Amino acid sequence: MSIFRGWGGAALVTGASGGIGLELARSLAERGFDLILVARSLGKLERIAMKLKVTHHVRVHVVKADLSEPDAAEHLMAELRTIDLDIDVLVNNAGFGIYGRFPARGPERETEMIRLNVMTPTGLVARLLPGMIRRRRGMILNVASTAGFAPVPLLGTYAGTKAFLLHWTLSLAEELEGTGVRAAVLCPGSTRTNFHAVSGAGERRPPDALRQDASDVARECLRGLDRGKKVIVSGSVNRIHARVARLVPPAFAARLAWKWMRRRERRR
Ligand SMILES: NC(=O)c1ccc[n+]([C@@H]2O[C@H](COP(=O)([O-])OP(=O)(O)OC[C@H]3O[C@@H](n4cnc5c(N)ncnc54)[C@H](OP(=O)(O)O)[C@@H]3O)[C@@H](O)[C@H]2O)c1
Repeated sequence: MSIFRGWGGAALVTGASGGIGLELARSLAERGFDLILVARSLGKLERIAMKLKVTHHVRVHVVKADLSEPDAAEHLMAELRTIDLDIDVLVNNAGFGIYGRFPARGPERETEMIRLNVMTPTGLVARLLPGMIRRRRGMILNVASTAGFAPVPLLGTYAGTKAFLLHWTLSLAEELEGTGVRAAVLCPGSTRTNFHAVSGAGERRPPDALRQDASDVARECLRGLDRGKKVIVSGSVNRIHARVARLVPPAFAARLAWKWMRRRERRR
């Protein structure tokens, strides 16, 4: 049974102009949610909004915002005040990674990533949670990664941001017990989106056979939410990876990953 039965508000999805965010937005529209879609690419958002309105008969608002800017959460809240919708579902999905030795693309890019992956999601939850608690209804869905389960050399800062989201969401989920509001974290593994191109990993990304489609990730996510899961790892191979990563001491996991990545670099 859908966890969202009887909910009437809207879903806010960050990073909805493509990839996993777009597929999560589509799945929420299928469940009848009105949508607020946020990203930097306004043209893409407008085309997506048009399609979702026609296909699912829901209201769709788009907001162009760079969520890696300082005070992005505050600015987005100001935009939301002009849209008269209660936000029942917040999907903190927008994010990127940086591949390479720290600081692979300079200090400003690392800081930008931490703001986008950590600061803005934290700021949005802090601002939207009181309303959800008042209405006794809400879902916080943070998109982390299997990279959050253990240190990942060459993706070190990125993995750190995802470890934050994983642990923070689990703490939130406990604190929210009995309020009617839930928190869950989606941990995809490698997925066919723009992520690897943006990160600079390019051809060093995992083999295609090990990657999932974003639509499958979204479907598994919604199924996991319906089952009341707090941590949703999409894909059976990723679930094995996550289980093993949690068993190995972090320093040993980092050493193993480093050796494996250096061997892979040398083979290229
Ligand atoms: N693909 C993977 O292998 C993978 C694996 C694990 C976890 N994830 C996580 O999944 C989430 C979605 O990534 P994806 O794979 O779907 O990558 P993607 O295809 O690159 O999509 C990223 C989304 O975030 C938006 N975005 C990026 N920077 C932004 C900014 N500064 N302000 C506002 N929006 C911004 C992008 O839109 P604009 O460019 O239009 O702003 C786009 O909609 C990320 O948090 C990522 O860490 C991905």
